[in-house]
Amino acid sequence: MAYQTIDVKPIAGALGAEILGVDLSRDLGNQEFDEIHQAFLDHKALCFHEQDLSPEHQVALASRFGQPDIYPFIKALPDVPEVIEILKTERDTVNFGGGWHSDTSYLPQPAMGTFLHALEVPDSGGDTMFANMQLAYETLSATMKGMIDGLVGVNSSAQNYKGGRAKKMKELDGMKDKFIDSSEISIAEHPVVRTHPETGKKGLFVSRAHTTNFKGMTVEESEPLINFLSDYAVRPEFTCRIRWRPGTLVVWDNRCTQHFALNDYNGQRRRMHRVTLRGDRPA
Ligand code: SIN
Repeated sequence: MAYQTIDVKPIAGALGAEILGVDLSRDLGNQEFDEIHQAFLDHKALCFHEQDLSPEHQVALASRFGQPDIYPFIKALPDVPEVIEILKTERDTVNFGGGWHSDTSYLPQPAMGTFLHALEVPDSGGDTMFANMQLAYETLSATMKGMIDGLVGVNSSAQNYKGGRAKKMKELDGMKDKFIDSSEISIAEHPVVRTHPETGKKGLFVSRAHTTNFKGMTVEESEPLINFLSDYAVRPEFTCRIRWRPGTLVVWDNRCTQHFALNDYNGQRRRMHRVTLRGDRPA
């Protein structure tokens, strides 16, 4: 697409683009929004630097794309229920999101997109990596595609935190007081190969972080294939890496990507505001 109101600079061969010339704190005109939305579908993870955004602005922006959702495990900002704060303090050694995953894939309607706004970033480190699940799927052999096309993955909110999500969250000094200690584990069955509802493209929807097993198969039977697909999907040539600055906003499409928050900045602070959008039921 030829963009007229925005400047789109791809940051890697697989996915990701920087968008220049946009101030997200003001109302976007219809053409500008349509072009950003098209770039979101084309590039899957968009990066806007130097954005002065209040939490309310962030929710208003997200609302142009869809319905902002409430994240079930972290208390939101007191006055803005759709925004959670992701904080790693100087004392923390574990981080939030430090494993390849697609947000909330253990919910019946996993997050469609995520808007992450950087407030404080380390001097170096704390980048986020993204991987293109459609490219990963397209490059599998026809026989492997045939094997996985009908498979259903069982995704659990407990899987990412073997030994318990609550235990892991309580290790996070910056977030332990915000954690909602629900004993309820959320489990959802979704196709391992999902079709993007807007582009019609097929992509992998499986991860070691959230998928426990395939429906009708034991954990032991499933694990080798979950591990293969999880590793294959994030081969370097399917990824991009985003370096945050204070004020950077990244929006990504969870329906066709996975991401990984790198934990390589112990002793430094990183603070972000996150809004997720309610998604459809994967098909
Ligand atoms: C997340 O998984 O949503 C957090 C990503 C990040 O902090 O970079």
